[in-house]
Amino acid sequence: MTKLAIMGAMEEEIEPLLSHFKDVNIVEFANNKYYEVNYNGLDIVIAYSKIGKVFASLTATTMIEKFGCDTLLFSGVAGAINPKLQIGDLIIADKLCQHDLDITAFGHPNGFVPGGSVFVETSKELRDVATQVANENDLKVIVGTIATGDQFVHSTERKNFIESTFKADALEMEGASVAVVCDALDIPFFVLRAISDSADMDAGFDFDEFLKSSAVNSANYLIKIVEKL
Ligand code: ADE
Repeated sequence: MTKLAIMGAMEEEIEPLLSHFKDVNIVEFANNKYYEVNYNGLDIVIAYSKIGKVFASLTATTMIEKFGCDTLLFSGVAGAINPKLQIGDLIIADKLCQHDLDITAFGHPNGFVPGGSVFVETSKELRDVATQVANENDLKVIVGTIATGDQFVHSTERKNFIESTFKADALEMEGASVAVVCDALDIPFFVLRAISDSADMDAGFDFDEFLKSSAVNSANYLIKIVEKL
């Protein structure tokens, strides 16, 4: 690895990283800010994309193609589907899918378009580092499927659809689009999230309440992982 990209979707998701790494150089590009830092000799570019798959794809592509990043880590919050996941808990995606990608009218499965695949896998090497760090620090981390869509999910009906269709453990709004970009450009990546809500009717309230603390949980774990790379 020569340059590491660290992405979040919202300012709250990268703020704990920026205050940890300090001494940032800001580069403005395509209506966004990219924060360059050097941490223990490693060049890192940090950015939050703004919410949703389109902004996340733009930011991931920019970090790889313009800034020359050759590994990408995503840190942020997610809604829980797996009942084992409580607010603040950590999940690392082993694979991701787009729950709102739907051309089933033409006989294709949910989440599939020709030329793509329903699931995109994350880097096993990066997952192994993350698991090692979790073990060393006594952190409980679930490894599972994350489903992504351009919707803030706040209903049991939609949550159940995503659970039954994709067997997903958590959901959010960016991960799978970053996965598609990294997979196409052959960039090892992973997606780490901490739970902010349970994607049910209380989700809006819980998200506002726990966004910051869960984003900090995710960022603190990510920093420990970066120190191992
Ligand atoms: N990110 C965190 N919680 C979420 C939810 N309920 N729906 C979509 N993205 C989320």
